[in-house]
Amino acid sequence: MRKITIAIDGYSSTGKSTVAKQLADWLGYVYVDSGAMYRAITLYALQNEFIYKGELFIENLVVALPDITLDFRKNDSGKAEMYLNGQNVEKEIRTMEVSEWVSPVATIPEVRRKLVKLQHAMGENKGVVMDGRDIGTVVFPNAELKIFMNASAKERAGRRFRELQERGDTATFEEVLENVTERDRIDTTRADSPLKKATDAIEIDNSEMNLEDQFHTILQLAKDRIAGRI
Ligand code: DC
Repeated sequence: MRKITIAIDGYSSTGKSTVAKQLADWLGYVYVDSGAMYRAITLYALQNEFIYKGELFIENLVVALPDITLDFRKNDSGKAEMYLNGQNVEKEIRTMEVSEWVSPVATIPEVRRKLVKLQHAMGENKGVVMDGRDIGTVVFPNAELKIFMNASAKERAGRRFRELQERGDTATFEEVLENVTERDRIDTTRADSPLKKATDAIEIDNSEMNLEDQFHTILQLAKDRIAGRI
């Protein structure tokens, strides 16, 4: 069966990674969480004080970019986890502190250039499901299937809040809602590769959809594309 490239973009906490993982598992494709890569660079910036006392020192971070190695490695249950310079950072990249800084870091063109290059290499053999903000517009503009996910900000903040609570994070719902809204604002207004729906992407608003319906809707689209039906 021919392999295709599937790009899943959309706002923060729209459940992109959940459906992308389900699709990749079902199709036997590679799943790439491009947001994890921006988060790992942000963690590196925090660890090395390129983000210090509420300020991001862009030039220092840009100079240090060649020192950053990123890769995904599978854990014992087959889940891909993010490694930063050989260290597993899967947990650390999901904290509120990283969430607060990741959108400003993702506006830096040199950061985007480095990550897009890595993303191209990861998807060069097709058979990939990648989620992010610019996958259908910049990274894989020729992807056979492009999905653009959306849901109300309140619904999305609720989902992220529950996730953080499960991990023991003490952030309040209001803080999470503010973070989600602020990230939307920065992601859609940045000059380099802003979040926007590709003209040929299919928009899915999942505010009222359960996970199963969402998965089956998108899987059907993928099967049709693989078979060349649409
Ligand atoms: O998907 P996520 O919430 O983990 O992504 C974190 C941030 O990374 C998001 O707010 C914007 C940035 N990002 C990006 O600019 N481009 C991507 N392809 C993926 C993420």
